[in-house]
Amino acid sequence: MTDIIFLVLLFAHIGTVVLWMGASVLYVSVLGPSIAKLAPSSRADLIKAIGTRYERYLVRNATIAIAAGLILYAYISQASSGLAPSSSGLPWILVGIIFGLAAYVMGIAVVMRANRGLMKLMGQSPAGQTGPTTPSPEMTRLQRRVAMGSGIQALLLFIALLSMVVGANL
Ligand code: HEM
Repeated sequence: MTDIIFLVLLFAHIGTVVLWMGASVLYVSVLGPSIAKLAPSSRADLIKAIGTRYERYLVRNATIAIAAGLILYAYISQASSGLAPSSSGLPWILVGIIFGLAAYVMGIAVVMRANRGLMKLMGQSPAGQTGPTTPSPEMTRLQRRVAMGSGIQALLLFIALLSMVVGANL
């Protein structure tokens, strides 16, 4: 019989993983390179407009993805052992978990912190003047950190995704 709890957890896990990874890849491939090409004042406006919303979206989906994954793991290994991955699939799932957690930590410790720093710098610019004509070294450093952190996060997520799919199907 279909296990409803398993299905709900799997849908929550995969659904939020897709939103998380999609946002991360979009930033690395489209948003980041486009922001870098903007004039400093337009760049400041854009970062001000999307920074907080993007961060909230990413943290919310990443947190639900990880939480649903951990509950799913506990559920299939404790409550319903018939659903547990095979002995050859389990190591792949564990590798996926390690890379998934690493991607989460990278998001919080590097991307989110640098993004907060950027938002703080933007908030310091006087009213009516959204940004300086040339970016400060601090701003350039933080923007590089967001771009680098997002790139590494996307790579870790990609490895986690491949490991999860292999592990679940072996
Ligand atoms: C702490 C982090 C994570 C935990 C604990 C976790 C746990 C799990 C578990 C227990 C399954 C079910 C395996 C099975 O049916 O035998 C699963 C499936 C899956 N996970 Fe994760 N996961 C995590 C992170 C991730 C990440 C970061 C991604 C992708 C970027 C991901 C993508 C998937 C996918 C696509 C499936 C479905 C695989 C399939 O049925 O073919 N997971 N995960």
